[in-house]
Amino acid sequence: MNKKSSVRLASHIFPTKYQITVKPDLEAFIFEGEETIDLILQKPSKNITLHSKELEIESAEIFNASLRERKKGIWAGKMSYNTKAETATLAFSKFLPKGKSQLKLIFKGVLNDKMRGFYRSSYTHQGHEKHLATTQFEATDARRAFPCFDEPAQKAVFEVSLIIPEFQSAISNTLPTEIKEHSGGYKIVKFAPTPKMSTYLLAMIVGDFEFVESIAKSHGKKTTVRVYTTPGKKHQAKFALNCSIKFLEFFNQYFSIPYPLNTLDLIAIPDFAHGAMENWGAITYRETALLIDEEHSAAANKQQVALTIAHELAHQWFGNLVTMEWWTHLWLNEGFASYIEYLAVDNLFPKWDIWTQFAYGDMGYALTLDAFKNTHPIEVEVGNPEEIGEIFDAISYSKGASVIRMLAAYLGERKFRDGLRFYLKKYSYKNAATKHLWMALEKISGKPVAKIMRNWVSRPGYPVLKIVDDGKKLKIFQSRFYSSAVSKKQSKDKTIWEVPITSRDSNYHQPTTTLSRPSATLPQRGREGRQWLKINSNETGFYRVAYGPKMLESLAEPIKNKKLSSIERWGIIRDAFALAEAGEIPTSDALGLAGKYQKEDDYTVWVELVSGLDAIAQLIYKEKIYGEFKKFALNTFAGILSNTNWTINAKDAHTKALLRSLILNAAGRFGDAAAIKIAKQKFKHLLSTGKHIHPDLRSAVYNTVAENGGEDEFKKLHFLHNQANLQEEQRRLARAMANFKSKNEIVKYLKFVLSRHVRAQDAPLFLAVSLANPNARDLTWKFIKQNWNILLQRYGHGGHLLSRVIQPLWHYSTEEKAKEIEKFFRTHPAPGCQRTIAQILEKIRSNEAWLRRDLRNIENFLHGA
Ligand code: BES
Ligand code: ZN
Repeated sequence: MNKKSSVRLASHIFPTKYQITVKPDLEAFIFEGEETIDLILQKPSKNITLHSKELEIESAEIFNASLRERKKGIWAGKMSYNTKAETATLAFSKFLPKGKSQLKLIFKGVLNDKMRGFYRSSYTHQGHEKHLATTQFEATDARRAFPCFDEPAQKAVFEVSLIIPEFQSAISNTLPTEIKEHSGGYKIVKFAPTPKMSTYLLAMIVGDFEFVESIAKSHGKKTTVRVYTTPGKKHQAKFALNCSIKFLEFFNQYFSIPYPLNTLDLIAIPDFAHGAMENWGAITYRETALLIDEEHSAAANKQQVALTIAHELAHQWFGNLVTMEWWTHLWLNEGFASYIEYLAVDNLFPKWDIWTQFAYGDMGYALTLDAFKNTHPIEVEVGNPEEIGEIFDAISYSKGASVIRMLAAYLGERKFRDGLRFYLKKYSYKNAATKHLWMALEKISGKPVAKIMRNWVSRPGYPVLKIVDDGKKLKIFQSRFYSSAVSKKQSKDKTIWEVPITSRDSNYHQPTTTLSRPSATLPQRGREGRQWLKINSNETGFYRVAYGPKMLESLAEPIKNKKLSSIERWGIIRDAFALAEAGEIPTSDALGLAGKYQKEDDYTVWVELVSGLDAIAQLIYKEKIYGEFKKFALNTFAGILSNTNWTINAKDAHTKALLRSLILNAAGRFGDAAAIKIAKQKFKHLLSTGKHIHPDLRSAVYNTVAENGGEDEFKKLHFLHNQANLQEEQRRLARAMANFKSKNEIVKYLKFVLSRHVRAQDAPLFLAVSLANPNARDLTWKFIKQNWNILLQRYGHGGHLLSRVIQPLWHYSTEEKAKEIEKFFRTHPAPGCQRTIAQILEKIRSNEAWLRRDLRNIENFLHGA
């Protein structure tokens, strides 16, 4: 048996229905459960193996119509656990016949504080500490709450009953059908049967909640939509309710399949490992991903809430109705939802210009991570839970979304949508793999989808197109792109992608072609009198373009006069920075190009410019020229900064609010004296009057105050943090506190992050921000090493929180550091972090080469500039 198949359950026994009754105890933090599973055995069997983890199965009994003892059932004579496989095996005294049987199990477990399985979350209300019980099952944690066949293809119907205190509420995937009294001040809430679905989508939630509700109507069907919060917060649920109703109606129409349930709940959970989870009909969220306080929430948070709601709603079809056959096809779920969330948000908020933001948020991040030698193909074989957990990453999400966007552009939006409709209809309540989606899209579009998509999905990385204009012909060459010059040298990868090539010049949209070979000559219309040429119109292709120096120079003009769209202006500077890092062009070329963006006013383009300059600042912060570089950066911002003020106008566009926050933050960080002065004034005013700062200005104020402050400012930010009760505000403050430069404050901060004042769900982000602060990096790394056991205990059970903590180690730039980090992780376990560690080492070595190659070049550029 090979490693991969050994983690799968036998396929000849499968469940059709679970009747589950669970009683959580929110004082003793345990739960008791009882379930009857309807099974089908395709051949006689003496034992049954199913998933169970950290549960105690007290009894197991099988009922079968053809067995004598049918009334009593037969007891499992022997029960054994395999902790590695996370299974329990029940051995019976005689063969169970082929056909239907019922398995009855009684079990109990711990209501843990690890944010997975069936767990407890805490909050304070009116000065008292309270708890609620909730579930997080994806990917492989349903088995921590009840023994089950915990694989996505083992779909069944679930009938849940929850036994809860009389005055609390229970939420599950469907609506209650019956509430009965139960002994000892309890009641039993019985929920309607779910649709046929996978175990990872089940939800059971118990506690004190309040909610707002409304009704969505479409296709003549009504769905009650509710947004739940812990007591005292339902006024923060209105924005989410409004979005949910609109998105539900949008998706009903877009997919042309009505949402099948009569209820849709969105629940804000105070402790939550991820951003949100798409449990069918009972979607759970961390508070910052759902709640909006009109007085205290920033535009950026509103946008994130809308995108997250749209994402999880899309899963109700793509994921819940049609589910991947196995986790290898996870990207179908996550890549698709990460793409379509933008479509829904664009529909509801057309002025947000959300597709341009897709560029930086998803596509740019994917291009960065997939440029490592240590990346992985979108589709990857996975077996055990640790491997499965590791692929919930930017490759599945953001590269997945990006290649889907490329495909949609290639097929045309309408054909793409119709193909999806066909796919969803055909596989409703079933499972599918990547090839099934390609077949559906091929059938509707008549285009060779599988052939085109093959290497984008099955191979790691993506191509860079080198464009050579010899004066007569335009030649184009493709090869895999590496951000590290070191990795490129070692590479033997000869992958050739099917690259859809779109281009336009100062006169024409050129004909679209597909490059299927290492190189080709591009057909061109009317090259006479052409002033410039841009490859990859609207940046729909998932690749980079390396123009020759002349061609790149000629693009400065359409950048300045905005003949190119904002997403195209973004693409050009994005690639220039990346090519400089990779050693394909001198860094001075990228910096020179950045200087051409002085009239730029698009938010996304500025995010890229700021982040490109930040990356170089990280590289040279210890060098003599750092001060001069900061001046150059401020000079680059000068135009936009002079157009950005601290006064908010209620009529300001959404993207203007985002841009303002970005630019003011950058101004403070790069040392603009005026920005620092105003930030300090605003902070002082806040403390002396208690009058709120506008939410869109707060991060710039807090960050700038911390970057330029000391003991006193630390104390004040800390005070504000402990006073705040909106998680968004707490996070804003705590993040800002990672930006101090002085040792004392850094040390205090690190202690604070692991104290009881910071939730376990948030500490990883704060440690990461501190590690990204060059002044705090060494101290933070030392602290992480010293507290590794605590981190392991908190986050070492899987998921992404641990790898998120260490990722910013990749800002280091010496071989000595690489060696030290490598050594540490050779002797310290870091579950779920292997790929991140490899990427850290790869990037550090790349940084070292970059610095050696271009330090003098940057210096010369700054002196000449
Ligand atoms: N299905 C995921 C939740 C999840 C993530 C489960 C990782 C198990 C492991 C959910 O749909 C999701 O993708 N949530 C995102 C937020 C979303 C807006 C991208 C998350 O939690 O980060
Ligand atoms: Zn998702």
